[in-house]
Order: sequence, then structure tokens, then C-alpha cells
Amino acid sequence: MTSAEQPTVPLAGDVRMPLLGFGTWQATGEAGYQAVLAALDAGYRHIDTATMYGNEAEVGRAIKESDLRREDIFVTTKLPPGRVGRERETIEASLRALDTDHVDLWLIHWPPSSPGDSLPVWRELLAARDEGLTRTVGVSNYSISQIDELIQATEEIPAVNQIRWSPSLYERQTHVAHRDRGVVLEGYSPFKTSDLSHPVLVRIAQAHNVSPAQVVLRWHIDHEIVVIPKSVTPDRIRANADVFGFSLTAEEMRDIDALGR
Ligand SMILES: NC(=O)c1ccc[n+]([C@@H]2O[C@H](COP(=O)([O-])OP(=O)(O)OC[C@H]3O[C@@H](n4cnc5c(N)ncnc54)[C@H](OP(=O)(O)O)[C@@H]3O)[C@@H](O)[C@H]2O)c1
Repeated sequence: MTSAEQPTVPLAGDVRMPLLGFGTWQATGEAGYQAVLAALDAGYRHIDTATMYGNEAEVGRAIKESDLRREDIFVTTKLPPGRVGRERETIEASLRALDTDHVDLWLIHWPPSSPGDSLPVWRELLAARDEGLTRTVGVSNYSISQIDELIQATEEIPAVNQIRWSPSLYERQTHVAHRDRGVVLEGYSPFKTSDLSHPVLVRIAQAHNVSPAQVVLRWHIDHEIVVIPKSVTPDRIRANADVFGFSLTAEEMRDIDALGR
């Protein structure tokens, strides 16, 4: 599948986000660089990094050294909680490390420890977007009520909320609450929070001649939930991207949803 055919979800501001991305937490140094290069080669067009991961320079180098155009790759980075009040300098450092003049999505990595800080930080993200340093802005690890506070105060909807998500964490009402507000749900740690030997996942994987890990990823995509598996293992990097040759039936989706109850 070419990048143009990869399923995407629309975000505010005429931006499209690939539903499959590549996670890079704990992928640092040479291993991180090699992993991102392998991911771009395997077809991922969306890379998830963060100031906290300490690998933006490796991500940037891999993007530069791939044969791809910057505009064909969706790049997310995140503002750590310890940088409250230093937002502008933090995104400038991210852009320098990534060797790019903008990212596609900038997230507040965690709600600031002092709840009163959330709104000023959000306003700084909006200012960075208005200046073109990032195409869209969103949050991570936010509850629905924390998101509502931002929307009520600024009438600006976070494009994305990146939270822990997997079949075992599935909650229909949480998904619906995001959708109702126009916030795209992005799941992280799809494998760390899954039992890949669960009989339901194994049965469905066998029916499609794929692995349970591929079923978990496809389940996110069929729900239109963004998913960002991480791996530094070339075979897994490739297999985790090879999820567009099958889709799950409505009954299989219901069976997997039921693992969350
Ligand atoms: N916003 C946040 O607060 C937050 C928090 C956590 C994560 N994230 C983001 O989400 C991404 C993904 O989450 P994660 O890294 O926590 O966990 P994950 O993607 O659920 O799991 C990664 C682990 O699964 C292994 N793995 C990869 N593919 C596999 C496969 N096909 N079968 C079996 N095992 C497999 C990896 O091993 P190898 O690498 O050894 O192959 C690694 O140990 C992160 O990298 C990061 O970008 C965000």
C-alpha cells in the first residue's frame, strides 16, 4: 500500500492524520534512528515522538535520510509537564532537533500538575499553531472534563487526545465522548496493555491468517482510532504496518470490544 492509500482521519485545519503511526518511546540513539528509518521504509507515514523521549534528533535524521518528502510524513511531538511557562522555547528546540520548520501535531504530554496551568499552556499551543510552528494542536492523557475546560474557555477543540487504549481498555462511552466533541482518539501502548494470547484474539487472527498483534492494530483502525505501535525489531516493524490486507467483521469487532468489559 502506498502512502496515498493509507487510511487517514481529518483534523481541524485541513490536516489529515494517518490512522497508523510509529511509536518511538524508548527507541533512542542509533537503535531509534534505525527503527524510524525501517518504519519509513516499511510504509509508516506518521511518527510519534516527544521532547521527553530524547530522540527527536534521531527521528529528524531518519526523516531527512529517507527518500521521502517532509510533507508526506506526519510528525507529532509533545510538550513535557516540566516545561510549563517555557512552551515557545520548547517547540523551537523540538523543531531544531527534528530539523524541520513545523510539526504536524503538538500535544500537551500530560495535564500540568497544577490544574490552573492547563489553560495558559493550551493558549501557548494555540499561539504556536497560529504562527505555523505546528499545523494542529491537541492533548494527551486528558480526561473528558479536562478537555471540556479547554473548549469552554477558548472555543478551540483539541484535535487529538492521545491516551492508553487497547481492546482490554475499550470503553464505548469514552470513544463516543471524544467523537461527540470532534476530538480524535489516539491510542498508545496497544501491545503493552493487551494479552496477545487471549483466545478471542488468537481465534480471529487464525481466521484471517494474521497475528493477534495485527488484529489489535486493525481493530483500532476499523474503529477510526489512531494507533502508534512501537518496535525496534525490523520484522515486527514491518508486520505491524502490514494491516491493510484484511478487515474485521462487525461480529469480530463486537467480540474484541467485549474484552474491555
Ligand atoms: N502520550 C503518552 O503519555 C504515551 C505513553 C506511552 C506511549 N506513548 C506512545 O505510544 C507508543 C506505543 O506505546 P508503547 O511503546 O508504550 O507500547 P506498545 O507499542 O504497546 O509496545 C511496545 C512493546 O511491544 C513490543 N512489540 C512490538 N511489536 C510487537 C509484536 N508485533 N508482537 C509482540 N510484541 C511487539 C515491542 O518490542 P520491540 O521494540 O523489542 O520489538 C515493545 O516491547 C510509544 O512508543 C509512544 O510513541 C505515549
